[in-house]
Amino acid sequence: MILATNGSSRCFKRVSLVASRSVRTQRPSSSSASSAYTGSFDRNDPSTSTSPVGYTPDQRNILDIALRVDQAGEVAANWIYKGQMAVLGRDAVVGPLIQEMWDQEKKHLVVMDRLLAQHRVRPTLLTGIAQAAGFGVGAVTALMGKEAAMACTEAVETVIGEHYDAQLKELDTLPSHPSISLLKNVVRELRDDELEHLDIAVANFSQRAPAHALLSTVIGGGCLVAIELCKRI
Ligand SMILES: [Fe+2]
Ligand SMILES: [Fe+2]
Repeated sequence: MILATNGSSRCFKRVSLVASRSVRTQRPSSSSASSAYTGSFDRNDPSTSTSPVGYTPDQRNILDIALRVDQAGEVAANWIYKGQMAVLGRDAVVGPLIQEMWDQEKKHLVVMDRLLAQHRVRPTLLTGIAQAAGFGVGAVTALMGKEAAMACTEAVETVIGEHYDAQLKELDTLPSHPSISLLKNVVRELRDDELEHLDIAVANFSQRAPAHALLSTVIGGGCLVAIELCKRI
């Protein structure tokens, strides 16, 4: 595990993410939660075929917003890696790493698309913008160099890791239902995948990127704005 060394607030963030990871080091039942959506599909399983009924509007809103934002985030992540691969795909060192992370994002998106359908949640109206912005950020940072591409991944996954952590606390407030228990395990699994991407980025010298602090601030800030927009639109 490599810790951030520049800036006390980023260091704090990283320490808190490391701490949250240490709580779930064994990746227990959540480690394969997504296989409920990517493997053979059991239409009689209430966890994958039903949605809670009887939730209050506020409770339903928590679920709807969580799924809409998460699906949008996975769309954007896919297009970030697509943009990075367009530039660095032939690089012998980072090409395979980016492809590996992209492959995980493809799986995340399949899972989130199925969750949207299961719970009858509409995707964000900003999907096209998320795709274009994601590709642009991925390609531009990749053009700045391998380290900048990794700095992009570090910044995005820091925000997304924290977002998934906060979301788990919100989902804990919802009345129990088989689909919600599964959803929480899926979110834990995705969070852990994103934090592994963060580790890969740092291990591949994200913090040697030119203007690393500025890149982190701009990209991380952009992610936070995007999350808030997708909650509403
Ligand atoms: Fe993801
Ligand atoms: Fe990721």
